Amino acid sequence: MEDIKKGLESVIALETSISYIDGINGILEYRGYNINDLSEMPYDAVSYLLIHGELPDEDELEAFSGQLRAEREIDEDTIEFMRMCPYGVEAMDALRTAVSYLSHHDPDMSDCSLDANLRKGIRLIAKFPTIVAAYYRITNGQEPIAPHPSLPHGANFLYMLRGEEPSELEARLMELDFILSAEHELNASTFSVRVAVSTLSDIHSAVIAGLSTLKGPLHGGARLAVMRMLEEVGSPERAEEYVLSLIAEGQRVMGFGHRVYKTYDPRARIYKRLAREIADERGDTRWFRIAESIEEAVQRELVEKQGKPLCPNVDFYSAVVYKYLHIPPEFATSLFAIGRISGWVAHCIEQYADNRVIRPRAKYVGKHHPSR
Ligand code: ACO
Repeated sequence: MEDIKKGLESVIALETSISYIDGINGILEYRGYNINDLSEMPYDAVSYLLIHGELPDEDELEAFSGQLRAEREIDEDTIEFMRMCPYGVEAMDALRTAVSYLSHHDPDMSDCSLDANLRKGIRLIAKFPTIVAAYYRITNGQEPIAPHPSLPHGANFLYMLRGEEPSELEARLMELDFILSAEHELNASTFSVRVAVSTLSDIHSAVIAGLSTLKGPLHGGARLAVMRMLEEVGSPERAEEYVLSLIAEGQRVMGFGHRVYKTYDPRARIYKRLAREIADERGDTRWFRIAESIEEAVQRELVEKQGKPLCPNVDFYSAVVYKYLHIPPEFATSLFAIGRISGWVAHCIEQYADNRVIRPRAKYVGKHHPSR
């Protein structure tokens, strides 16, 4: 009882075969496949891999994609509910409530068998992009756009957001963004998901726990904060002064540091390459150069001078990619959730398959009053 690991740091809480992280060498694998090797695949194949444990063959992929495409639509009631959200409700909060609302209409709601969980998982994976895109359009005073019947997951999302098909590069970046966000071992939101499932609660409730946890600025909400930081810095020349002022105020530089990686996050490397690629394609490198200048300032001031092992994490250069895709910062975390839902579904299924209720202990440090 005495050995408390605050924040459960380094505690091995369970076994998983869904993903593997080597935080020292900067390696991430989904089901044994290096993330770099998965980055050329469709999101649907990666989603299948996470949930079923093996990459699909051609027929399996076609069937899985067909199931996802068939479940993309959301009904008018869900859209109406989003229209009724008070002004200023954030996308993550609207998504969380939409999942709760959808659960009331899910035909498998009370069935927690493996088959029913797979069906519910597929519905959630398919509908997340539709919900977020519809909410984006509603908050912009536009009519939601129905999902495209044949576009891939990432391209379909951008299509529903904008009403026109994205360029090839944009479609590839969106697909890759969802892949890179899809899974990351026992991060805070996935832990929440597994705690909920461990009580034999249902998938929708577990996903709501995941969304509520992902939203925080020390987790998925950091992407939003990085986008705001890029805007606030405004030009590469101001990056150093900005970082110095954060340090002087004792604040953190968002998008840096990680509980597990003590080196460059392998996803951040891929995002950095993509951010440079789209900056060059657009002929506007400002956001990329601001980010690179912030990275250089953090390296100088916090790594070299203070010896802190801080590298960009997944949220840093993804925020730059989002700037070029014209994603508003308030929607950044909900895009993260669109990717992550596949990982959460996989973890729900793994937890149900070998369950033990997750219930750690706390060391009591309060008073003991003598009994009367
Ligand atoms: N900026 C400045 N200093 C930092 C940062 C940062 N981003 N991150 C950590 N540090 C410092 C801490 O102040 C601490 O210094 P100290 O030893 O002098 O007190 C030291 O580095 C160690 O930090 P911890 O808080 O112990 O690291 P922890 O593992 O608890 O936190 C976390 C990891 C939460 C990600 C942290 O690095 C952070 O707050 N980063 C900024 C938020 C962020 O980008 N979150 C996204 C993470 S990725 C994801 O969840 C999807």
